[in-house]
Amino acid sequence: MTVIDRAKTPAAEETAGGIVVEDLVVEFVTDGYRIRALDALSFVAPPGQIVALLGPSGSGKTTLLSCLAGILTPASGRIVVNGRTIGSLSAAAMSEYRRTQVGIVFQAFNLIPSLSARENVAAPLLAAGTRSRTALHRADELLAIVGMGERAHHKPGQLSGGQQQRVAIARALAHDPPVLLADEPTANLDYVQAEAIVALLRDLRSQGRTILISTHDQRIVPIADAVVQMVPELEGKTGAGRVEYVAGESIFEQGTRGTLAYVIEDGQVDIIRILADGGQKHLATLGPRQYFGELAPLIGFPRSASARAKTNVVLRGYPIQEFRALMLRPGDGDTDGGKTGEKPAKPAAARRRTPAERAAKKKSASVRRVPAASRTAARTPAAKKGSPAKRSSTTRKRS
Ligand SMILES: Nc1ncnc2c1ncn2[C@@H]1O[C@H](COP(=O)(O)OP(=O)(O)OP(=O)(O)O)[C@@H](O)[C@H]1O
Ligand SMILES: [Mg+2]
Repeated sequence: MTVIDRAKTPAAEETAGGIVVEDLVVEFVTDGYRIRALDALSFVAPPGQIVALLGPSGSGKTTLLSCLAGILTPASGRIVVNGRTIGSLSAAAMSEYRRTQVGIVFQAFNLIPSLSARENVAAPLLAAGTRSRTALHRADELLAIVGMGERAHHKPGQLSGGQQQRVAIARALAHDPPVLLADEPTANLDYVQAEAIVALLRDLRSQGRTILISTHDQRIVPIADAVVQMVPELEGKTGAGRVEYVAGESIFEQGTRGTLAYVIEDGQVDIIRILADGGQKHLATLGPRQYFGELAPLIGFPRSASARAKTNVVLRGYPIQEFRALMLRPGDGDTDGGKTGEKPAKPAAARRRTPAERAAKKKSASVRRVPAASRTAARTPAAKKGSPAKRSSTTRKRS
């Protein structure tokens, strides 16, 4: 099995079939700031292979599949499926592409409850004008392929989750598409059901069909011919440990992913939100013994704000597990916990709230979309005194 290099792509022309994704960028604007769901993603999925899209929640798996399905238009970049460049298709060609070239399997099955299994599978054919008899005959064939021949007359409510997913896969195959896109097809299934779906997907790879599966499910990985890691390169400049920046220098940028949380040893750091209109919003200025950047690596999301050195600054970067351990370290009281470099000073704010408490807060924050960076600031003594940072409140979920 190969791990596909998501950064390097042969020119689309070099790949006769399969899927070529080149420099794909998709952005969403939420609460006035831009989320880059896909940031220059490139890869090639050769024809007749199963390619697993692996990545944490929010890494853009569904977004990518939606672009490939022709139901979401990227901001830039190129998608070529079996020689067709998706962005350049006319409206009519696009609708024909959606109908015949890609089959989509969703995590939630999306079957019509009032229709039987065979009627569900026949539905896309009937919608495309196929005669009823032919459509139902084809549905029976497909249900047999997915091992559901004997349940053709059952309605979705009478089927298990795994059986419903098999019907959904049969439906996705109605037009015999060369590309099958499956968005977390085993996520709602128990172990036994998931195994059956994995086996089915493996069987369907035949006949040159390219199958893209987004998943958190490690069981998919062994059946995949290749894997695309959706999480891009982590910010590389800073390693863990002591690191210095000069005034004005970027520590990390909004939208990137990182594994480090930072404690300020000396100097000041500005936390800045880059707005959708290109403007900037200052969220907080943090100083010695304050920390930032912990939320994104904790929850595996891109950073929701940028951090810049306001003055010359000395930071200590901690891998997130180490940072958690540091925050949870019991019995430190108000001492600095040693200054050997092995056990750096515990940030003042850490004594006030543990990561577990922050995680509990985060749940409600993810609904309210409270800024990660301003939440960081809100935990600091300065913010408690009513600094502007505490009053700024538009971010959410990532730092
Ligand atoms: N319609 C939308 N509006 C605003 N933001 C969106 C929208 N759809 C997706 N996003 C954002 O884009 C990013 C990628 O989302 P996406 O759903 O593609 O991730 P995913 O990898 O499929 O995650 P999961 O594993 O949770 O399904 C996330 O930050 C998400 O919040
Ligand atoms: Mg998804």
